[in-house]
Amino acid sequence: MIGNWFLRCAVLFALAGMGLGIRMGIVHDFTLSPVHAHVNLVGFTTLFLAGLFYRVVPSASGWLAGLHFTLALPGAVALSVGIAGSVTGQDWGVAVAIAGSLLTIGAMLVFAIAVFRATGSSRAQTLDAIEPGYAGR
Ligand code: HEM
Repeated sequence: MIGNWFLRCAVLFALAGMGLGIRMGIVHDFTLSPVHAHVNLVGFTTLFLAGLFYRVVPSASGWLAGLHFTLALPGAVALSVGIAGSVTGQDWGVAVAIAGSLLTIGAMLVFAIAVFRATGSSRAQTLDAIEPGYAGR
C-alpha cells in the first residue's frame, strides 16, 4: 500500500524538521528557518496528508500514486537541501532548489489528477463504498 510509504516518509521528515527547529533554538541561529519550514510543511504535512488520502481511498493507490511518490520524495529532499545550500551561499543551492521545486509541483499535479479522478463520479464513490476498489477499475 503506497499510502503507508507516504506516512512513513512523512514522520521521518517531521523528526528531521523538528530536530532542526530544536537545534536552531538551542544555538540561536535561525539561518535555516526556511529549510525547517519546508521540511515540515512539504516533507511532513504534505506527504502525511497524501498518505491519509491513499489510505482512505484505496482505489486511488494505483500507478498514479506510485508516480506521485516517485516525484514527491526526491522533490521534498532536493527542495530542502537546495534551500539550505541557497541560504548558506553554496553555488549549487539555487539549481538544486529549482530541481526540487519542479519535482514538488510535478508531484502535486499528479496528486491533483488522482484526487479529481477519485472524486469525479459520485456513482463510482457509492459503488466503491460497497465494493472497495470499484472506482479504480
Ligand atoms: C519540535 C518542533 C519544532 C520546533 C522546536 C520549531 C522551532 C522553530 C524555530 C526556532 C523557528 C524560527 C523562529 C524565528 O525565526 O524566530 C521556527 C520557524 C518556523 N516553523 Fe517551526 N518548530 C517546530 C515544529 C514545526 C512544525 C511541525 C511546523 C510545520 C508543520 C513548523 C513550521 C515553521 C514555520 C513555517 C516557521 C517560519 C519559517 C520562516 O520564518 O522562515 N515548525 N520553528
